[in-house]
Amino acid sequence: MANKFLDSKMIQQNFELTKIISINSSITKLTFHAPEIARSILPGQFINIKIDETTVPLLRRPFSVYYVQENSVEIVFGVMGTGTKKLSLKKVGDMLDVLGPLGKPFNVSDNEELSILVGGGLGAASLPLLQNHLIQKGKNVITFLGARTKEYLLTSYLNDVRTATDDGSSGYHGTVVELLKHFLIENKKKNCKIYACGPTPMLVALTNLTEEYNIRCEISLETAMACGFGICQGCAVELKNKEMGFALSCKDGPVFNSNEIIL
Ligand SMILES: Cc1cc2nc3c(=O)[nH]c(=O)nc-3n(C[C@H](O)[C@H](O)[C@H](O)COP(=O)(O)OP(=O)(O)OC[C@H]3O[C@@H](n4cnc5c(N)ncnc54)[C@H](O)[C@@H]3O)c2cc1C
Ligand code: FES
Repeated sequence: MANKFLDSKMIQQNFELTKIISINSSITKLTFHAPEIARSILPGQFINIKIDETTVPLLRRPFSVYYVQENSVEIVFGVMGTGTKKLSLKKVGDMLDVLGPLGKPFNVSDNEELSILVGGGLGAASLPLLQNHLIQKGKNVITFLGARTKEYLLTSYLNDVRTATDDGSSGYHGTVVELLKHFLIENKKKNCKIYACGPTPMLVALTNLTEEYNIRCEISLETAMACGFGICQGCAVELKNKEMGFALSCKDGPVFNSNEIIL
């Protein structure tokens, strides 16, 4: 596809669904065979899926790549509205129109002594690939996951996980940011970097915490998107630097330094 906005590694193609698993009553995992995407996707990048041939929904929907193995790509999602409802009704053998990889990945080249991953709800979907890239770089990685209840904790593929739930059904009874704060107090002297994805209130609390403790932090936003590659301006996020104005979450993000944007 020749388009000046698109990266050369990006493809748009129909892929056959090879596996569908219900993780719980509202979270589904889809697998499709897509060697090019499996090879080239970087942690934090996303794919944009055309749900079906109809105009409802009209626009593609963005999803993180949850995992890749043997040339297959996995995504996990919860039902939010029409698009994800329709996606949850797909069958093995159905085709999925996928555009990607899109967006800027996490920067895994910093020199931290401890990499701390933080995921809230389905935001955890972007963490397994990130964990593996950081481990390949020789880093020590620990993950903090938060969710409403233990059924919503996406712990698969993650090695060293500490959990927090709103109802106390797994791990710490409270928010994942509170749990992380206790950890930081105990491990004050370590040179840490935080990588996070989750709902905006979690990212706000996390940004405040990392400012208080002066810790580098990258966050991946789940801003609603349309085109996914920088032409519609539908995903603008406000930058703290007033002279720079706005950035596009799909093209300049979805990963940003927590101190550069206004949430
Ligand atoms: C880069 C990126 C990666 C993502 N990765 C995943 C993932 O791995 N798994 C997953 O389940 N979801 C992910 N999302 C969110 C997912 O794209 C939305 O849930 C999906 O677009 C909703 O589509 P829908 O048609 O079902 O809902 P819609 O009918 O579009 O919306 C239903 C309701 O949900 C709200 N909504 C829609 N999108 C969002 C959003 N991004 N954040 C908060 N509220 C929203 C709408 O305002 C509306 O109230 C990601 C989003 C982005 C931008
Ligand atoms: S979604 Fe179109 S510019 Fe970002």
